[in-house]
Amino acid sequence: MKLTINGDEYDIAESPPRPLLWVLRDELGLTGTKFGCGAGFCGACTVHINGEAVRSCVTPLTTINGEVRTIEGLPTVADDGMITLHPVQQAFLEDQVPQCSWCMSGQIMTAAAFLAKNPIPNENEIVEAMGENYCRCGCYFRIKGAVAKAAEQLATQEETAV
Ligand code: FES
Repeated sequence: MKLTINGDEYDIAESPPRPLLWVLRDELGLTGTKFGCGAGFCGACTVHINGEAVRSCVTPLTTINGEVRTIEGLPTVADDGMITLHPVQQAFLEDQVPQCSWCMSGQIMTAAAFLAKNPIPNENEIVEAMGENYCRCGCYFRIKGAVAKAAEQLATQEETAV
């Protein structure tokens, strides 16, 4: 089957049946997406399909209908090769959010999908949106702050673009 991932088209065998996460990590080497619980609970494996945050560990490959984006495809790359991090990535970096970092790509992908839908969230909305992504190091306070910071940056970008 054909699958578009981060703008590139891949030809991937449909069998044996397996979740998207296995294909990303083991077959394509896109190891930024992490395996946590493997059961759809922790959020470490979150990627985007058509802009929606989904858990790749419980997403069967053959059910995918749309474009996949992983953490490797979240930055924008200009024609001259210049890489610009997504505002969520930039905020997580500036605020030094991660501790062990294992859950962070899932956190960032969840936050990016959330802010695309709700660019001016209040604190409760951020907590609710991020509440199903677990961090064993307990970095929740910094995660919340970085998502709010990214929202501010996105709002500034919008104003500048108008
Ligand atoms: Fe997919 Fe935990 S590894 S939700």
